[in-house]
Amino acid sequence: MSPSERRPESEDQRIVPGAPGSEPPSLKEPTRSRPPLPPKPDQAGPEPRTPTGAHSSDSEEAVAQRGARLTTANGTPIGDTDHSLKAGPRGPVLLQDHHLREKITHFDHERIPERVVHARGAAAHGVFVANGAAQKISCASVFEKDRQTPVFVRFSTVFGSRGSADTVRDTRGFATKFYTDDGIWDLVGNNIPVFFIQDGIKFPDIIHAAKPHPDREIPQAQSAHDTFWDFVSLHTEATAHTLWNMSDRGLPRSYRMMEGFGVHTFRFVNARGKTVLVKLHWKPKLGVHSLLWEEAQIAAGVDPDMHRRDLADAIEAGAYPEWDLGVQVFPDTEEQTFEGIDLLDPTKFVPEELAPVQVIGTMTLTANPTNYFSQTEQVAFHPGHLVRGIDLTNDPLLQGRLFSYIDTQITRLGGPNFAQLPINRPHAEVNDMLRDGMHQTAVHSGVAPYRPNSLDGGCPFTARPGEALIEYPEVVTGAKTREAPASFDDHFSGARMFYASLTPIEQQHVAEAYSFELGKCYEKTIKQRAVTVLRNIDEQLARTVAAKLGLPVRGKEPDRAAITTSEALTQIGRRWPGDGRIIGILADGDTDLNDLTETVDTITANAMTALVIAGHGGELGTGKNKVAISRTIDTARSIEFDALLIAATLPDAKLAVLLQEAHRHLKFIAYTPAGLPALRTAGITDEFDGIESAPTLTAAFELITQALPEHRVWTRATQLAP
Ligand code: HEM
Repeated sequence: MSPSERRPESEDQRIVPGAPGSEPPSLKEPTRSRPPLPPKPDQAGPEPRTPTGAHSSDSEEAVAQRGARLTTANGTPIGDTDHSLKAGPRGPVLLQDHHLREKITHFDHERIPERVVHARGAAAHGVFVANGAAQKISCASVFEKDRQTPVFVRFSTVFGSRGSADTVRDTRGFATKFYTDDGIWDLVGNNIPVFFIQDGIKFPDIIHAAKPHPDREIPQAQSAHDTFWDFVSLHTEATAHTLWNMSDRGLPRSYRMMEGFGVHTFRFVNARGKTVLVKLHWKPKLGVHSLLWEEAQIAAGVDPDMHRRDLADAIEAGAYPEWDLGVQVFPDTEEQTFEGIDLLDPTKFVPEELAPVQVIGTMTLTANPTNYFSQTEQVAFHPGHLVRGIDLTNDPLLQGRLFSYIDTQITRLGGPNFAQLPINRPHAEVNDMLRDGMHQTAVHSGVAPYRPNSLDGGCPFTARPGEALIEYPEVVTGAKTREAPASFDDHFSGARMFYASLTPIEQQHVAEAYSFELGKCYEKTIKQRAVTVLRNIDEQLARTVAAKLGLPVRGKEPDRAAITTSEALTQIGRRWPGDGRIIGILADGDTDLNDLTETVDTITANAMTALVIAGHGGELGTGKNKVAISRTIDTARSIEFDALLIAATLPDAKLAVLLQEAHRHLKFIAYTPAGLPALRTAGITDEFDGIESAPTLTAAFELITQALPEHRVWTRATQLAP
């Protein structure tokens, strides 16, 4: 949607994201019966399909609740659901109360096991449009020029439980389900291009180490504890991934501002059977941005749902998140290396300077799920969901994953038929000969679910060569052995390059992250060992962290080859579109309402979200100039805003906290004359960069738009340094 399309014509059309229902509730309990309300305009469900992939005549509404009256699960109308059936008003409850028992029994079983990893997530529907650039290298229909493929994307954290906070320091999952005409393709990636381990057999080890300690079950959703650092300091192939986690990449500003990586090398096969090796990248149109550590910590307390709210609100407000899908392409040689980098080693990445990322299509997320459980929770991804033209390599981590996902989903989703859940149904025809099992919802016909058969007329027949999934006949030789190739022994070169490519302030964040995480460990030996590993990345980094921990730097400095850098690895120094940013506007009853409404509308027209902050809830103004107040001084914290416009001063100490945090978190602040006293009270002057005065709110916003593309006022960090 273009910015001008988003400009509202009247106050009634102004979208304030976050409304819980599709229409405002009445003050009194409604008593007049009416059909269920429709979903909100920003929401969608999976396209209605039968369990076997056919278009369903059911609409989305037809599979939601029906009718105006309360019924049992079997459709019998119920007149009272507030009182149990008792022997007299003061008597015992009767076993005969089948409605009570059905209601409580169902409730007792509402939760299913959470994912063993990536339990905490948020998802959205969208569309992928190919630009045709990959047609030369893959015959997958999803890559045909201008082909539109529906997608469902789930973002997640890895270590925490389902109820943990969004903003913890962690890797983020970035899993995309493409409902292609050739069947489902799942690209199950992360926001970090390297992984902790080189072989799937080590996955239980890293996850057991990272999860809470098994005796006290603490800490939740954290890597800052002894078992994690014990493992990663002993198992040094984890060094690169750990470093990325300790960098700003471990604290995304928003799911909308993260890169995604397929991590493994995949194989593409084209229509002539020619193969190439590829690494897949999602590049966010908004750029890659992060929270500061203090912001992440505050958010975990005041808004633990920050990332899922941000994603849903942006979509509801029409600021649809977009990513380009890109590929790095490598020749499919016998060695499967590129410029000396082993393409089968998932702890390595290939710098973009050596293999540029070529864009092959764009994904836009356009709708929120109508129901979290049925979609975000029940979706089942699997790296083995492949389509013709996209094939695997022998990366030993990928090979382990190919077993793990279906296996875990049988437990998590209660049996083998989870592919029939609405969100998992393919949009291609399904004739799989799989039968029965728990929760079978397809009604199969025929008597011969086996091949060959004659009783069902020989159906199903195998696919013709031009239609079938292509399994590349790679020649494999060698002794059966439990060992890794020698090239997998290099655990540090990628980590060194990543660290050396960061700007000084990003490097400072890395040192602070290691100091915090290791500072939370109990065992001195583990901290000492971790510092020794750090010397393999950078001597100064190791010394800074050691000094913070009060430890010596032991041993001899490791020998190192010359370090090259890659510009694509730093997040700072480029300018990005301001779309989707959140602008807080502090206003009060004295604020010029024409100026305020004009500013809110201009922010919306620029594909950003305006959140008005005031001393109380409700609205400011009336009629055409009425503006909804989204946050009060009790509910607003700086973490939520990318920039603040200050046009009021409130007699509340919390205002100074809000402004000081915004200042410390390097946010852009522009103020009108009415806002000046508030800044003065907070001790903020415009000697600092990114603190600007303007005569009106509209002029203040204009100043902000020039600065926002840099994400933060990075130069203020130096001014604030002691
Ligand atoms: C490059 C390495 C890996 C990446 C990028 C990755 C990514 C992901 C993502 C994004 C999810 C969340 C899926 C969702 O949103 O539902 C996930 C879940 C999961 N992953 Fe991985 N993973 C990796 C390695 C592994 C390995 C090596 C294993 C096991 C051998 C594994 C086992 C699992 C399991 C069991 C789940 C839960 C799936 C479910 O309950 O539906 N992962 N992974």
